[in-house]
Amino acid sequence: MHVGPVDIYEEVLYAGLKNNVGFTSEEFVNVFRDSLKGLRYLFQVDDTYQPFIIPGGGTSAMESVTSFLTKGDKILVVSNGVFGDRWINIFKKYPVEVDYLKAEAGDYVSIDSVKEKVKQKHYKLITFTHVETSTGVRHPIKESVKEIKDYVDIVVVDGVSSVGAEEVKAKDWDVDIYLTASQKAIGAPPGLGLLVISENAMKHLREDNIAGYYLDLKNWLPVMRSMEEGKAAYFSTLPVHTVFMLNEALKLIQDEGIENRVKRHEKVAGAIRTGIEGMGLEIVAKRPEAYSNTVTGVMLRKAKAQDVLSEIVKEGVEIAPGVHPSLQGKYVRIGHMGWVTPNDAIITISALERTLKRLGEDIRVGEGVRAAQSYLT
Ligand SMILES: Cc1ncc(COP(=O)(O)O)c(C=O)c1O
Repeated sequence: MHVGPVDIYEEVLYAGLKNNVGFTSEEFVNVFRDSLKGLRYLFQVDDTYQPFIIPGGGTSAMESVTSFLTKGDKILVVSNGVFGDRWINIFKKYPVEVDYLKAEAGDYVSIDSVKEKVKQKHYKLITFTHVETSTGVRHPIKESVKEIKDYVDIVVVDGVSSVGAEEVKAKDWDVDIYLTASQKAIGAPPGLGLLVISENAMKHLREDNIAGYYLDLKNWLPVMRSMEEGKAAYFSTLPVHTVFMLNEALKLIQDEGIENRVKRHEKVAGAIRTGIEGMGLEIVAKRPEAYSNTVTGVMLRKAKAQDVLSEIVKEGVEIAPGVHPSLQGKYVRIGHMGWVTPNDAIITISALERTLKRLGEDIRVGEGVRAAQSYLT
């Protein structure tokens, strides 16, 4: 029950057990082409969007967005926590002007304040984080984009903790760049950054962009296009085995169906939150409409976060530390993404109850499991 990497299906791991598969082999090219198609399904876009699979992960996908910028461009970062702030840290490394709006821990920046800001100044690019992994807060992407799209050129959404578990409709919502990583709700190993890019954004992929060499998507574009046509291409060696595993994970997602997958995540997340509240604890996300399908932050009153993490492992469950600086040591995070089931929710709540009781936290033992159980039935 970590926030990523998550449990990986054996079929997915086995798919990577290939000896000596060259990146120019027909086998690899076919799998790469299928994975690009799989991304279109995952992000709900059509052929007007260009998919990219690049080495790295969420951060390489984020940094590759500099490919759409030129010197002096103005950017607005909408940050709800640690991963929103990561955008600011990335852009500070480049010759662009960065403004930001920040929410308090557990909240998200209101649509009105984003709208006010984009009306004051013309921004070339704006970034949102769909689910802020540091707090478990989900941003209302569809509603926000609708309000601000007329004022900015390129809308970017970090879906690292949402894609594969939350409703994501990049095209319908008019998002220009939606990105994620392989190791979270997709259920593949870490190692890949995944993006889909609108025609509108692709027009901004210029020769004089400010990206470095490796993450300049202009260098990767011919590889993506060629692979889609079934022809091998090289810019830099791709993590061949990880792509085989990604492709298998994407196939399993298509078999389950994205809507069913979102519903399953919703159910498990709901059971976990009901269990947390049932035992008498608070959730980090302040507004219920911002509860996410993938991460739940749990506030602690007495127990130390570090003790909870090391003790709950002894009960057979691994959860994650809280990482938001203003709540340091005061909360833990439960990840519920990938192939999580209602049984995982019950086991987690029950292990957490025993652990917290032992650590002297004032909770209603048994009430969490009872609440989660009745939620599920
Ligand atoms: C919302 C979000 N964005 C970006 C990242 C960075 O991804 P990576 O660690 O794969 O570079 C993470 C990682 O957890 C994340 O949760």
